[in-house]
Amino acid sequence: METYISIPEDLKLAVLEKIKPTEAERNELMAVQEELAAEVKAAAEKLRIPDIFVKMVGSAARGTWLSGTHDIDVFISFPEETSREELEVKGMKIAREVAKHAEHAEDRHAEHPYLNITYKGFDVDLVPCFRVPSACQLKSAVDRTPFHNEFVKSRINGREDEVLLMKQFMRGGGVYGSELKTQGFSGYLTELLIIHYGSFEKALKAASSWKPGKKIDIMQHSELKHDEPLVMVDPTDPKRNVAAALSLDKFCMFIDHCREFLKSPGIKFFFPASPMPIEDKEFLEKLESRKSSQLAVVFETPDVVDDVLYPQLYKMEQAVASLASEYDFSVVKTGVWSGKPETVIMLELISGTLPNVKKRIGPPVWVREHAEKFKAKYEGAENVFGGYIEGGKYVFEVQRKYPTAKGLLEEQLVNCSLGKHVHQSVSTGFEVLEDSEICRLKDQDFRVFLRKWV
Ligand code: UTP
Ligand code: MN
Repeated sequence: METYISIPEDLKLAVLEKIKPTEAERNELMAVQEELAAEVKAAAEKLRIPDIFVKMVGSAARGTWLSGTHDIDVFISFPEETSREELEVKGMKIAREVAKHAEHAEDRHAEHPYLNITYKGFDVDLVPCFRVPSACQLKSAVDRTPFHNEFVKSRINGREDEVLLMKQFMRGGGVYGSELKTQGFSGYLTELLIIHYGSFEKALKAASSWKPGKKIDIMQHSELKHDEPLVMVDPTDPKRNVAAALSLDKFCMFIDHCREFLKSPGIKFFFPASPMPIEDKEFLEKLESRKSSQLAVVFETPDVVDDVLYPQLYKMEQAVASLASEYDFSVVKTGVWSGKPETVIMLELISGTLPNVKKRIGPPVWVREHAEKFKAKYEGAENVFGGYIEGGKYVFEVQRKYPTAKGLLEEQLVNCSLGKHVHQSVSTGFEVLEDSEICRLKDQDFRVFLRKWV
């Protein structure tokens, strides 16, 4: 068992100094929340929509938001009997009325539509939901949120700073955020970890020896088996795993981050230095010393939200790797970077070229019918170097169809199974850059990605 030193108080204070909202920031946020609540009520009255409750949820309503993050979640709660259609129509009507006083408004869609507005500089979601009696009787996925709020508010008292430390620590480790791009820890999950373990330090010490399959069930009411790496049974819904979006790699990155930090605590675990974009010269030197092959598949970034885009990009990453392996190229690693206007799928191979000769192994000679067919197909055919028997089987050395990975991708990429939007974009055109040609990509954020890559 590892023994760890305690986390120095002054380190925690130094971090909190940077991330804890000031009194002024707190007051401003509270005032804006109150204003928004009044706006929603006024809009409902004006539109003669009765029985509406306004609920402030999310970290802003729980006192667990990081300074500088300006998001407010406003839930517009309708009576349970409301039909889904009515909820959508009336909810959006109210939201649009409120948006008349906003700087910017944009329709978004989760399970049902909601409105995202910028109001006095705050990023506000106006979300219609059903007022159900408990989180497990939800009619729509967002109906749980008000229950999360009540649970956290009733248990977090006095431990808000611990949540802030944990959120920032996870940010520093690159594991904070449950969006499909990140597949990390959500705000609610972080709060539940603090509630369960009692403090930032205790949670870190416990997480240092987590294993996949770790299950936490605060209310001891789990009803289902789950197979995700971390199972945090939702205290408000016994069927739900709050950590369902957490990937195995983010789970393990967090464990590693905890262990390293506890070995020698430091501010850098909360605020890591961001790596410099790599310059052409340095990249070319890396290529020279690695002696592998680098390929970059470049195409126009589809104009869809990240939660739609990233699953398609990760799927494409897999498809590209399978395609390369299928044609005998050995994959070292794959990666995804996406910006505006371009997206890049990176592929590192042991080698991007293969000999022209490829060995085709046939059936054993004694499996007469199949063996004779195989032999007849290749013997004397064009593009065949020759044949022999090895280990009892016919073998023919034939001309390889794709001796370069670049050629393979250029010809076969569009035939891979790709997501809808990525497929559309790739069909209109893409480019495969190889090794030094990758220097063509100048985006500074891509160059940061590229430094980590090599
Ligand atoms: P947010 O994503 O804004 O999270 O979702 P947060 O808790 O406010 O944390 P930060 O500080 O902004 O990062 C708002 C609420 O919606 C519910 C949770 O109850 C959350 O608190 N929610 C969100 C989920 O249940 N699941 C999700 O994947 C996302
Ligand atoms: Mn939030």
